[in-house]
Amino acid sequence: MRQTSQISKLTSLRAGFAVLSIFALIGVSGTVFAADAAPMAAAPEAKAEVPGKPKIDLAAGEALYSNGDATRGVTACITCHGPKGQSAIATWPKLSAQHAAYLTKQLKNFKEGTRANPIMMGMAATLTQQDMQNISAFLAKQPISQGVAQDKATIALGQSIYRGGIAAKGVPACAACHSPTGAGIPAQYPLLGGQWAEYSNAQLLAFREGVRTNSSQMTTIASKLSDKEMKAVADYIAGLH
Ligand code: HEC
Ligand code: HEC
Repeated sequence: MRQTSQISKLTSLRAGFAVLSIFALIGVSGTVFAADAAPMAAAPEAKAEVPGKPKIDLAAGEALYSNGDATRGVTACITCHGPKGQSAIATWPKLSAQHAAYLTKQLKNFKEGTRANPIMMGMAATLTQQDMQNISAFLAKQPISQGVAQDKATIALGQSIYRGGIAAKGVPACAACHSPTGAGIPAQYPLLGGQWAEYSNAQLLAFREGVRTNSSQMTTIASKLSDKEMKAVADYIAGLH
């Protein structure tokens, strides 16, 4: 008896929900079609042009980068990374002209925690894979922001490490992967040239100290560099183009 009455309770609950959803549907579609009939009709056609491929939306990426999305708790990236990703403050890395695949990987790594940074872990947690791809595609298209090396005393050391590595310690030339101009190689090796020296130095330290564990190649290389060598090569990279 008890079971039957529970089932009939459930059934009437379900019926109630069904009625509610029908009302919701009528309500929503009524407003959408009345206000915005043309775009609704155009949308399926636009989607059909690239069947099966995830659509990268540059405009959505730019909007999210510049304004965030308060309803989802996404902070505007521009607050720290600056207009076009050309951060004007050494604490926040420049993101403009960086390869899209690298940027998306970093955002995923922050979200997963293999790149441990309290600020960016919070930021990335609010982003979907699609958001990450949209923002990365937008940033990759922004013009590069160049910089200058600051420390005349260490430029020669920085340059020799970047171009030739340190043979005695088994440190490979940075240029071998990041290219002689610091432009990197799309998808595999990030752009470094023009980046703030403080930031590049902090990343080398993070690789060496095991805070950033998302690249075994860079962990191996950084673990062979002294503080002085890291500082010198990071400063050289800031002026590289
Ligand atoms: C409160 C300041 C702040 C905000 C807002 C912010 N970031 Fe960051 N971002 C940082 C800091 C600090 C780092 C360096 C983290 C580290 O040292 O690992 C960073 C690093 C990054 C990196 C890695 C860059 C590289 O060269 O590897 C990416 C990509 C990035 N942020 C994207 C974003 C996006 C996208 C948003 C917006 C959704 C955003 N950030 C919002 C402070 C911020
Ligand atoms: C064998 C290839 C290779 C060599 C050689 C190499 N790197 Fe890298 N480096 C990488 C890869 C791959 C990444 C991206 C790791 C990731 O996915 O997070 C990277 C990332 C970096 C970053 C972080 C960039 C950012 O925006 O956060 C810095 C800084 C860096 N490398 C500096 C150097 C320096 C300095 C040297 C030379 C001493 C060097 N690299 C040599 C492969 C290499």
